[in-house]
Amino acid sequence: MTTTKSSASTAAQEQDVVRIFDTTLRDGEQCPGASLNTQQKIEIARALELLNVDVIEAGFPIASPGDFEAVQAVSEVVHSSRIAGLARCTEKDIQAAADALKNAAKKRIHVFCATSEIHMKYKLKKSREEVLRMSTEHTRFARSLVDDVEFSAEDATRSDPGFLAEVVSAVIEAGATTVNIPDTVGYTVPDAYYELISMLMAKVPNIAGTVISVHCHDDLGLAVANSLAAVRAGARQVECTINGLGERAGNCSLEEFVMALKVRNDHYKEQTQINSTRLYPTSRLVSTSTGMMVQRNKAIVGENAFAHESGIHQHGVLSNASTYEIISPADVGISNNKLVLGKHSGRHAFRDRLAHLGYQVDDVQIDKAFEQFKILADKKKDIYDEDICSIMDQLSSVAPSIWELEVLQTTGGTQVMPTATVRLKNVGGQVFQDAATGDGPIDAAYRAIQRICKLKIKLQDYQIRALTSGTEAQGEVNLEVQIDGQMIRGRGVSTDIIEASAQAYLSAVNRYLVRNNSTKKQ
Ligand code: KIV
Ligand code: ZN
Repeated sequence: MTTTKSSASTAAQEQDVVRIFDTTLRDGEQCPGASLNTQQKIEIARALELLNVDVIEAGFPIASPGDFEAVQAVSEVVHSSRIAGLARCTEKDIQAAADALKNAAKKRIHVFCATSEIHMKYKLKKSREEVLRMSTEHTRFARSLVDDVEFSAEDATRSDPGFLAEVVSAVIEAGATTVNIPDTVGYTVPDAYYELISMLMAKVPNIAGTVISVHCHDDLGLAVANSLAAVRAGARQVECTINGLGERAGNCSLEEFVMALKVRNDHYKEQTQINSTRLYPTSRLVSTSTGMMVQRNKAIVGENAFAHESGIHQHGVLSNASTYEIISPADVGISNNKLVLGKHSGRHAFRDRLAHLGYQVDDVQIDKAFEQFKILADKKKDIYDEDICSIMDQLSSVAPSIWELEVLQTTGGTQVMPTATVRLKNVGGQVFQDAATGDGPIDAAYRAIQRICKLKIKLQDYQIRALTSGTEAQGEVNLEVQIDGQMIRGRGVSTDIIEASAQAYLSAVNRYLVRNNSTKKQ
């Protein structure tokens, strides 16, 4: 069964465990609208370290100054997990990764090059010979800078297997310590992936001693199944993301893969070093930070994952939980006693709860968070984990002060024209006010905000839910807007749902403004 160790990667090298390479901060963040600022990335990286992941891919340093800064910052604060930075096959990319990783206690440069005919012909416009040469030369260059180099053969599952084997052998010869066989477009199926990995294990002459890694996307909903099949074939590193976040349909979900291996240890006879009791708190942190809600019926971390609706099931679980539960909620960090703090709770209890949720904060941050906690505790009696996560998210949210909501006043009802008056403060401290009418008070507030910010904003998706149970629960609004052709997510939380709606809208505006001030990703 899984155990917690102080130094994840060292122990992984000593034992034959399946290494967990988390790419939430790189591939996960590529999910449209899920951008994170450096502070949020640091918090997530710390939570991943507590989860005991072996490798944290912190970003793609050449992609933007923000990515470089984030890899650099994560390298400074994480000590036990290895930090990886992504690079294409160019010296500039690899040097940028090495520079960003300079202060990491354990570092890895992750070099990739596509090997499928489709990618070589239409994207790279290179021949097989050129791709083979680029891959080996740049793996060698990366190895001259760091001891730990991963090479990924992008779109491996649609590559010619013979050519793929040739590339794998050549990059190992050039110094790759881990070789990744990604299913970049989520095309493979478990049997085929099992055969591909088995073929490489059998046919690549110098493969012994190299860690074979897999990286699956979920376009056919098979990322976890494919990763498990690959492990049976001999893969010893699995790349995944918290909540399955990632490009298009996402990546292999870390929590699902880890729990499948743990619960069905009888079948796989393999283990990871993940501390599974950190899964739920980490999932919550990633969800609140990215504004990407976890679907209710999501395996392991969804709200309904342990809810039993039918009377027969409820009766069975009450008699003996194993009748309908294959995992105990406590095993993934879901506590039965969800009520945590109240108005009279002290700073000490608050700090303890933050630590349980994976937040490692300094005294200044504690002061700010505790002040917000007290304000909230005045508005609602019981404070739950979700409330605490939302306080922390607001404190570290992207660009909190470009536009801030100062005043919101709305009227609505059956016999009146819905109207909103909004007052916003900009980053320079100037205050602007406008009023608008709309289909309802929320629409009116959005129209007033658009007028003040002078932006054309199209609301694409709007979801509201109660963060916790009870009529005094805070409302959480998650939305997606289109500004200037870009899809941006926003999130707002308040005991007043109209205010939560305005905050979510403003947070999307702020994200848009931050994103468009910095260099765009490639
Ligand atoms: O999906 C993919 O192929 C990737 C590589 C960069 C590993 O994300
Ligand atoms: Zn990927």
